[in-house]
Amino acid sequence: MDYKEVKELDEKYYFNTFGSRLPVSFEYGEGCTLYDSQGKKYTDFVAGIAVNTLGYNHPALVEAITSQSEKLLHCSNLFYIKAQAQLAKLLVENSCGDKVFLCNSGAEANEGAIKLARKYFYSKNLYKYEIITTLNSFHGRTMATLAATGQEKYQKPFEPLPTGFVHVPFNDIEAVENAISYKTCAVMVEPIQGEGGVIPATAEYMQALRKLCDDRGILLIFDEVQTGIGRTGKLFGYEQYGIEPDIFTLAKGLGGGIPIGAIVAKAFVASAMEPGDHGTTFGGNPLACTAALAVLSTILEEGILETVKDKGEYFTDQLIKLKNKFSFIKEVRGKGLMLGMELDEEVSGKEIVLDMLNRGFIINCAGNNTLRFVPPLIIQKDHIDDLVENLEKSFSRESYDA
Ligand SMILES: Cc1ncc(COP(=O)(O)O)c(C=O)c1O
Repeated sequence: MDYKEVKELDEKYYFNTFGSRLPVSFEYGEGCTLYDSQGKKYTDFVAGIAVNTLGYNHPALVEAITSQSEKLLHCSNLFYIKAQAQLAKLLVENSCGDKVFLCNSGAEANEGAIKLARKYFYSKNLYKYEIITTLNSFHGRTMATLAATGQEKYQKPFEPLPTGFVHVPFNDIEAVENAISYKTCAVMVEPIQGEGGVIPATAEYMQALRKLCDDRGILLIFDEVQTGIGRTGKLFGYEQYGIEPDIFTLAKGLGGGIPIGAIVAKAFVASAMEPGDHGTTFGGNPLACTAALAVLSTILEEGILETVKDKGEYFTDQLIKLKNKFSFIKEVRGKGLMLGMELDEEVSGKEIVLDMLNRGFIINCAGNNTLRFVPPLIIQKDHIDDLVENLEKSFSRESYDA
């Protein structure tokens, strides 16, 4: 079946929430390369939007899920689950957290983090429920995470949204300070705004946030759904700032392609969740946990974090060279293998994405007309060189001349 036949079925039977998708349908992948139904090759700099951490067909991940699928796919949380307990241990041993709850997606992890922050104060007989989040943030599509998301375009059609969220400008500590009231229970931020256009929080902001939350007795939550699992060159994004959140959430890269999310919390917060407060049917199932164990162990044991830092710096340098050649490139930013290149409005990022697809490269356009690069963490410098060479060709097309 080629992509046109898939498109026809999709248009007839699937909700039209993704609009006009990119004109390709992939059959299989190997390493950092995807192959479409015609056998054409694409080097992947999107990784399923920061999901395929180990690329495609990684032997450790394939072996782990193949053998687990022969033994036990699912069993209820009514029972003790070996891979779940082992994954929680591995996450705790390698983070600032003490306890873990596993779920199925980023939105679900954030939903749980919101509940946890509220329950923490409820258990102290304090009626604090409001969460301060930032403008241009993205926290998910469920009703509460949509309310947390600081982008009106996603929210408008679904009002009234759950109350209890206040939005302030990003990287503005004074705005957070002014928004804190007797109702505030937490501040929630992404260490790097991803969907919003790859905008990093500054170190001063993050450190001031930690101090402010401590001084005012409120919780600090990091949404690490996109920045977690080695993406920035550290296992978790918060490590870049020398501070620790009270709660952080994970999803995307954790399962390397198998859906799984996590809430990780300090013991003093996690203990607020009591039997019956939260639950899930699928969350923490043996298959997903086995996949996440394989992803995490591979990252930790094969020195991948160091390579992310090195490749990220190399990639950034190459993108800056392009910026020096093309005046329509406004800014190159990001950390590790989560990089963005913001373009002037006169050049359509979406058209560049299409042109690059024709050239055999998968990139994506996030907020603020920003080309986003979040490749598998196993990407090689050769791939980066090829991408940059082709970006240069794409930028040099007549209509985009600087
Ligand atoms: C920072 C952040 N939080 C939450 C989400 C929602 O994750 P999911 O789509 O798995 O629900 C995303 C997805 O892009 C994200 O980037």
